[in-house]
Amino acid sequence: MKLDRPYQWFLVAVAAAVVLTSGCSQVTKRKWLVFFFDGVPAEVSATNRVATANAAGKGGAAPAAPAPQPVRPKPPEPKLHPPYAANQCTRCHESTFAMQLVKPAPGLCFDCHKDFLTGRKAQHQPVASGECMSCHDPHQSTNPKLLLKTGTALCLTCHDNPLEAGKFTHQAVEAGECLDCHSPHATNFKGLLIKSVKDTCADCHADLTAKKKVVHQPVGDGDCLECHTPHAGKIKGLLKKPVKATCADCHDDIPGKGMKSVHQPVDDGDCLACHNPHATNTKGLVKKTAPALCWDCHDNFLEKAKFKHDVVEDCTSCHNPHQAKEAALLLKNVVKLCGDCHDDKDLQAVKGHAGAAGKSCTVCHDPHVGTDKNLLKPAARPK
Ligand code: HEC
Ligand code: HEC
Ligand code: HEC
Ligand code: HEC
Ligand code: HEC
Ligand code: HEC
Ligand code: HEC
Ligand code: HEC
Ligand code: HEC
Ligand code: HEC
Ligand code: HEC
Ligand code: HEC
Ligand code: HEC
Repeated sequence: MKLDRPYQWFLVAVAAAVVLTSGCSQVTKRKWLVFFFDGVPAEVSATNRVATANAAGKGGAAPAAPAPQPVRPKPPEPKLHPPYAANQCTRCHESTFAMQLVKPAPGLCFDCHKDFLTGRKAQHQPVASGECMSCHDPHQSTNPKLLLKTGTALCLTCHDNPLEAGKFTHQAVEAGECLDCHSPHATNFKGLLIKSVKDTCADCHADLTAKKKVVHQPVGDGDCLECHTPHAGKIKGLLKKPVKATCADCHDDIPGKGMKSVHQPVDDGDCLACHNPHATNTKGLVKKTAPALCWDCHDNFLEKAKFKHDVVEDCTSCHNPHQAKEAALLLKNVVKLCGDCHDDKDLQAVKGHAGAAGKSCTVCHDPHVGTDKNLLKPAARPK
């Protein structure tokens, strides 16, 4: 007769059980016999398990007189899977004697449980391949949901601890559980997320964009993972790349090529000196508007000035905050820049301009402030 594997295994197991029980306590013996021949689930307590293991270890020799046991707290009662508790062994096994399953999981389980796999876009690999028993005990467990382990420990049986990916760790992962964000089985979201990335992060970080007038486009789209890792990383702020490279991924023209002047913080990749990466109430995602923004690093030359150029507070009407094809971050060549607002016709009429033709305006004028209303540099003042 050709026996299939589980059946062969079962016979060996029965033989082993008989050998083992020959040297066991009455309780253990009853447990093993009941288990195999009645199909009645015996009460399994931790003490029974220890007794069985001891007996096996001694190769079936008669146990020594039991030493007095210290009083231990009562072990938790295992919760039984209802069909197991009801002795419906054959709902899953070929017979009470053949441990072969009537069909493989997950089909076996979905006979009674709602199929949570079919049609789901993201399926956890061990679930999809029917390895339900890598996480669940089909009969009983002292853990909820018949789980072999609980919390993060369950996930870490197969996964590397994601918190070890770098020294900067996400508090949500450290203090919480994997299942706060992930489903153990299947979902419709990439990465087995319970909800979209946008909604996952918004649960705790909605304040980043709440009531803000200007929202950075990828942030508004919920593409948090364009810039961040969700668990841990080697870079501050859980960034996937340093700030400079992060921004350059999408803004590769800042700093651009062929520029005559590049603002030093831009060259250094210190975009966050001026910008908030997520959202602001100011145009252009700047932390504050110019000129206040500029005084974070430059001496405030307006404070003590006697005369100011009418337009001087609007720094970006003459300077590009990042870079320029002209010196001093100027939007245009000086003469053209000044000519945008000052008519050539008017300038020609000015007495002091006799002989000024061909010279740059800033040879004689300070573009920002002055001690006289014509903003003349000391050397250019009429003698
Ligand atoms: C809900 C389905 C289900 C029910 C009901 C069920 N079993 Fe099982 N049983 C399994 C699965 C699944 C395995 C694991 C098979 C494998 O790993 O290949 C298993 C394994 C076993 C094993 C092998 C040893 C072990 O524990 O892993 C024995 C013995 C066993 N079952 C006996 C029983 C008996 C006796 C009953 C009835 C009291 C019963 N089972 C009820 C699903 C079930
Ligand atoms: C014969 C029907 C039947 C089969 C087959 C069956 N179950 Fe169950 N299972 C139940 C019932 C009934 C419950 C209790 C009601 C509920 O939670 O849905 C249950 C509950 C569970 C629970 C939750 C336990 C808890 O504490 O809430 C898990 C996990 C589970 N089953 C896993 C499995 C797995 C894995 C399989 C396949 C190996 C399986 N079941 C096959 C009937 C079945
Ligand atoms: C990677 C581990 C893992 C695998 C594999 C797995 N489960 Fe689960 N399952 C869990 C966890 C964790 C829970 C508890 C979820 C919770 O508490 O929110 C659970 C809960 C359940 C429940 C209880 C109902 C519920 O949603 O609370 C059932 C039923 C169940 N699983 C069936 C199965 C079946 C059937 C398979 C195989 C097709 C399977 N599981 C594979 C981890 C797993
Ligand atoms: C029995 C082994 C096993 C256990 C236990 C396990 N996983 Fe997995 N998991 C895998 C395998 C295999 C893959 C697919 C290969 C990979 O991406 O590493 C995977 C993939 C994943 C993925 C990526 C899915 C995707 O589509 O990108 C997530 C998220 C995940 N697991 C979360 C969990 C969580 C949360 C737990 C605990 C509830 C858990 N895993 C427990 C084996 C396991
Ligand atoms: C705060 C929410 C959150 C928590 C908590 C969390 N994850 Fe994730 N996890 C994510 C997000 C978001 C992704 C990326 C999904 C995507 O690619 O769209 C992810 C991806 C994964 C992946 C896929 C591969 C990868 O690394 O990108 C695995 C595996 C994974 N998580 C395992 C775990 C484990 C294990 C735990 C518990 C220790 C855990 N996660 C806790 C949010 C979380
Ligand atoms: C369960 C709540 C929770 C969820 C969900 C959550 N976070 Fe967090 N996150 C926190 C807490 C708490 C901190 C630490 C306090 C802080 O910096 O706000 C934090 C910090 C951060 C930090 C700063 C880390 C640092 O070292 O400066 C980033 C970046 C971050 N989260 C991104 C995300 C992203 C992306 C998601 C979605 C995938 C997400 N968070 C989902 C609670 C959460
Ligand atoms: C364009 C890239 C980018 C995107 C997209 C992005 N972030 Fe950030 N995030 C950053 C940078 C850069 C920092 C600052 C890191 C540092 O401190 O050096 C940061 C910091 C954080 C912090 C730390 C606290 C703070 O306010 O600085 C949290 C929390 C955070 N991000 C959550 C999120 C969430 C949630 C999303 C999606 C809604 C998201 N981020 C999208 C680039 C981004
Ligand atoms: C995933 C792509 C992406 C990344 C990474 C990214 N941005 Fe953006 N950013 C955009 C898009 C798309 C826009 C809107 C279209 C545009 O103005 O180019 C935008 C617009 C901006 C604006 C103008 C906002 C406005 O409303 O005027 C600023 C400022 C900005 N980004 C700064 C940054 C900084 C600083 C970083 C690095 C921390 C960064 N961006 C990283 C995609 C990105
Ligand atoms: C010295 C301050 C400063 C620094 C540093 C800075 N920016 Fe800006 N950025 C500004 C100002 C000011 C604006 C114009 C805001 C407005 O619209 O009024 C701006 C506008 C932008 C815009 C939208 C307009 C455009 O030029 O496309 C983007 C995108 C941007 N910055 C990206 C970056 C990136 C990327 C970095 C780092 C490489 C960076 N910025 C560094 C001040 C700065
Ligand atoms: C994060 C610091 C920082 C901020 C904010 C800042 N700057 Fe600068 N800026 C510098 C540094 C550093 C230099 C180079 C050294 C110097 O000339 O002082 C510089 C140089 C300049 C130059 C001369 C560039 C050249 O190539 O000759 C101009 C023009 C300038 N900044 C304008 C501005 C304006 C306008 C603002 C406000 C919109 C501003 N800066 C905000 C740090 C900053
Ligand atoms: C009307 C045009 C104009 C406006 C508005 C303007 N600048 Fe300038 N700025 C210039 C010109 C032109 C130069 C070059 C001067 C030179 O070459 O001698 C310059 C040079 C600079 C320099 C570098 C040389 C120096 O003087 O140290 C800084 C820094 C600077 N500007 C900051 C600012 C700030 C901050 C604001 C706003 C408060 C501002 N500028 C507004 C035209 C302007
Ligand atoms: C964005 C427009 C604008 C630009 C660009 C501009 N100016 Fe002016 N400028 C004005 C305005 C407005 C006044 C106030 C008097 C007026 O209406 O002519 C003024 C006044 C002046 C005055 C003093 C005259 C007075 O009556 O107060 C001088 C000198 C001057 N500008 C020189 C320059 C130079 C040099 C440049 C180029 C570096 C320049 N301006 C660029 C708009 C501008
Ligand atoms: C050689 C020195 C010199 C150069 C170069 C020069 N200016 Fe002047 N500018 C003066 C003097 C001196 C005055 C005062 C004239 C007066 O008091 O009659 C003046 C006055 C002005 C005034 C005020 C006129 C008024 O009606 O009160 C403006 C505006 C002005 N210049 C703009 C410019 C611009 C724009 C340029 C470059 C295209 C420029 N200047 C180049 C010397 C110069």
